Amino acid sequence: MAALANAAEEPLCSSTHLRRGIPDFGMDADAALNAVAGRLRGGCRPERNLATFLTTSIEPEAQRLYRAYLNYNLVDREQYPAMDELLRECVRMIGALWQGDSRRVVGSATTGSSEAALLAGVSLLRSWQERTRGELSRPNLVMGAGAHACWKKFCRHWGVEARIASARAGRLALDGTAAADLCDEGTIGVIGILGSTLDGRYEPIAEIAAELDRLDQQRGIDVPVHVDAASGGFIAPFLDADLRWDFRIPRVVSINASGHKSGMVPPGLGWLLWRDRGRRSPELGIRINYLGGDDTHYELSFSRSAAPVVLQYYNFVRFGFAGFHAVHARSRSLARELAVRLLGTGRFRLLGDGSELPVVALAAEPPIKLRRLAMHLADRGWAVPVYTLPPELDDVEVMRVVVRSDFTPEAVEDFTAAVEEFVSTVN
Ligand SMILES: Cc1ncc(COP(=O)(O)O)c(C=O)c1O
Repeated sequence: MAALANAAEEPLCSSTHLRRGIPDFGMDADAALNAVAGRLRGGCRPERNLATFLTTSIEPEAQRLYRAYLNYNLVDREQYPAMDELLRECVRMIGALWQGDSRRVVGSATTGSSEAALLAGVSLLRSWQERTRGELSRPNLVMGAGAHACWKKFCRHWGVEARIASARAGRLALDGTAAADLCDEGTIGVIGILGSTLDGRYEPIAEIAAELDRLDQQRGIDVPVHVDAASGGFIAPFLDADLRWDFRIPRVVSINASGHKSGMVPPGLGWLLWRDRGRRSPELGIRINYLGGDDTHYELSFSRSAAPVVLQYYNFVRFGFAGFHAVHARSRSLARELAVRLLGTGRFRLLGDGSELPVVALAAEPPIKLRRLAMHLADRGWAVPVYTLPPELDDVEVMRVVVRSDFTPEAVEDFTAAVEEFVSTVN
């Protein structure tokens, strides 16, 4: 890719070439490659993009495998039966990681956690409609203040009220009491997050489930829990074995995670698993017989490359449990070290200290301005987002650093030095 990065920046299409929308004539493949690479030059180097949770580097062997299967359509099950078996094997493996019964879990590969969340939401909605036999008309979904936008999308597009718990100072997470207080007969489910996009912290899933058990016993309101483990789903099983957040909790009916985050697959893969067939609304299945087989599909989207699923399987066999543990333990340890170093400047408060997701979330002590700091870091090649928290806390600005497998001890030094350089100029 280095050769491509040096390619000359040339205008690909001038307006005279665009009479028919695309250039009238093509060019050599080499010339096209260089021209496109030239257009894409600049911006942050992916491993210095500390804003993203997504995978930014993979091994050369994984790249070869990815290229080899890029043109395979995941939905062509009849044509690529081995691919379909690989996907099912991934579901069984993930089911076991999440402490389910791997013979009973069912699941779907999706384009990411957002599609998985939409699908999980539809399953909760249809199951609630079936339970209440259509007698209730105002469904709601309960979640914490730090819930990802995909849950708001689900609520808006499927006509479900988003019941969002208020954030408290220093804590965005939903807790058991707040969750149970918000539930009523119209509640289709409670979303627990492992962990939050905004501060990297886990919500107490076992406590939430226990409060919902109490609600069921006392008022007969039986609410299922879905765990949005977009990032934590491939971290907690390796680093937090004693934490009960998964299918060990009977009330947890389904879990999603992003293969393309801590599953270490390039962009384009999420997973949604239900504890068993009975928890996946049959309404989700669409029968398709025009591809050669006669099969039921449980996804919202359709055609897409099989390569991310191939890479997920590759990662499981390549790294094994010990390898995933080692990679994520290293990221967590680097995140912890970074948090301690930044706290040591005396100019920040920690909202997330890297001990759950390997994420450092900081608020600044006055007069430090995080947006200025972000600009200073950008000049040194680091991309870090600054944002405000949900409405109740929207006066709090936060800077977030996501530590991934390609972060290094040198990066901790380099990043901390850049931050120290900035804070030393602010009195
Ligand atoms: C908690 C949580 N849920 C859902 C998502 C959406 O995931 P994806 O980007 O895989 O669609 C994210 C993304 O960061 C997330 O952090």
